[in-house]
Amino acid sequence: MNKDYRSSTVYQIYIKSFCDSNGDGIGDINGIRSKLKYIQSLGVKYIWVTPFFCSPMIDNGYDVADYKNINPMFGTMSDCEALISEAGGLGMGLMFDMVFNHTSTQHEWFRKALTGDPEYMNYYIFRDGDADTPPAEWTCSFGGSAWEYVPELKKWYLHLFDPSQADLNWENPKVRNELKDVIRFWKAKGVKGFRFDVLNLISKPESLNNLPSGSAVKFCRDGHHVHDFIRELVIDTGIENMITVGEMASTTLDNCINYTNPERHELSMCFNFHHLKVDYKDGNKWALMPPDLNALRNLFREWQESMSLHDGWSAVFWCNHDQPRIVSRLGSEGKYWKHSAKMLATFIHMLRGTPYIFQGEELGMTNAHFTRIEDYKDVESINYYKILTGKGVTSEEALNIIAQRSRDNGRTPMQWTSGRNAGFTEADSAWIGIPDNYKSINVESEESDPDSILNYYRELVKLRSECRIISDGSVKFLDSGNERVFAFERSFEGKSIIVICSFSPNDERINKLPAGKVLLTNYDTSNESENLRPFEAIVVLK
Ligand code: GLC
Ligand code: CA
Repeated sequence: MNKDYRSSTVYQIYIKSFCDSNGDGIGDINGIRSKLKYIQSLGVKYIWVTPFFCSPMIDNGYDVADYKNINPMFGTMSDCEALISEAGGLGMGLMFDMVFNHTSTQHEWFRKALTGDPEYMNYYIFRDGDADTPPAEWTCSFGGSAWEYVPELKKWYLHLFDPSQADLNWENPKVRNELKDVIRFWKAKGVKGFRFDVLNLISKPESLNNLPSGSAVKFCRDGHHVHDFIRELVIDTGIENMITVGEMASTTLDNCINYTNPERHELSMCFNFHHLKVDYKDGNKWALMPPDLNALRNLFREWQESMSLHDGWSAVFWCNHDQPRIVSRLGSEGKYWKHSAKMLATFIHMLRGTPYIFQGEELGMTNAHFTRIEDYKDVESINYYKILTGKGVTSEEALNIIAQRSRDNGRTPMQWTSGRNAGFTEADSAWIGIPDNYKSINVESEESDPDSILNYYRELVKLRSECRIISDGSVKFLDSGNERVFAFERSFEGKSIIVICSFSPNDERINKLPAGKVLLTNYDTSNESENLRPFEAIVVLK
């Protein structure tokens, strides 16, 4: 089995916000092509591009209406083919984003289902019922019911996300074959890997009637046939030797071991999100709380050590298009902006797993700091603003919550230059606002600073590609003697490195600093005191 993903780093592009080539304010495929040299300069081996297939764009492309055609907003099939071959020429493989849990309700299959065609109704999850009683009191992920009524059919259909994203019926072999066909189509075009959207939600409970009320995701995650469905998809399409990553919502450690242990022939790796919920009060994304660092460290320790012990493999990351920016969340936007961004990067890139860099993370891009509800474009943020204010939360407080939690924080345009619109577009304005700090935080200025966050990321990527302790070593968390300082050891063939990361804006005392050769640190003078400096990170070869 090909395991090159162990020494590789993946770069994630949110296409709508990466680079606009034709001046309409929206990022596109040719924009990505124009920046391939930049991406290559990071040292990454794979590029995951978020969906650019035909879509009404209610969930920015995660509502696919045609899996085999390009949304004209993003370019043409020949642009896409050129992207694949040009990236290949620069030694990088494309990973496409397969949204297979649901389709847009504009997809041909769903439109046929709506005419009452039984063959296509069986592609989705329809249930009988009168207009007042949904089959279950389930809520969807973006707020509101997970069931939508179709009066003409006198039936309800299930949607775990927006009502315009109807869940597919994976129990139907025809559906599974259609989706395999999509994989084969892109594989034949030279795509080198796949990211699978919310893949652990595809297998629904056997009976969907009379179930308890609650979040639909809770009842559908890691369902009874999920492992069989994944294995069948991977084996039948022959993608076992490609890089594959499943996005797993609210999953368990045991399941992730099984999704990724090579002997099971499922996936190369999984994303999970438990570490990004340590600032959710009582598990509620829309209730603010300072991050619980103990919980964070314990989660990493448990997941890292068990995945290592049982030969599972994780995708390791802080940022993506669904998350606020990590430097704003766990680091600092002020005095220690640069140190904290580098510390957070060191922590992730030294872990066991494949690191993902989300566009702009390598610059230390921050949250958006939008102040008006009109600034937000994300369906989830807009829905939750209504839900929160509907519950009596003041508009000011709702805006404060959304400013910290909105997915739009990760979706503002890539900051290329200090020029107009951050060099993202020639249009009068971009499709979404650009944080004011683009004047100082941008590719151009960081290229010319040897000490920049950008150049530090390049070092991290290079280290992983060259050092087998990092790519292949086992992992063990250490007790630093200070709950704000995380420490772990990576070991391979008798050699090891120690990684120390302070998540604190203050000086911190720890048991002892490890002795050995310093491979990397985010301060320019080596540490001669007993204390760790704010957000200090040190990697030592023992
Ligand atoms: C995943 C995507 C997210 C999308 C959702 C529904 O979580 O990352 O952007 O809204 O799935 O497809
Ligand atoms: Ca464009």
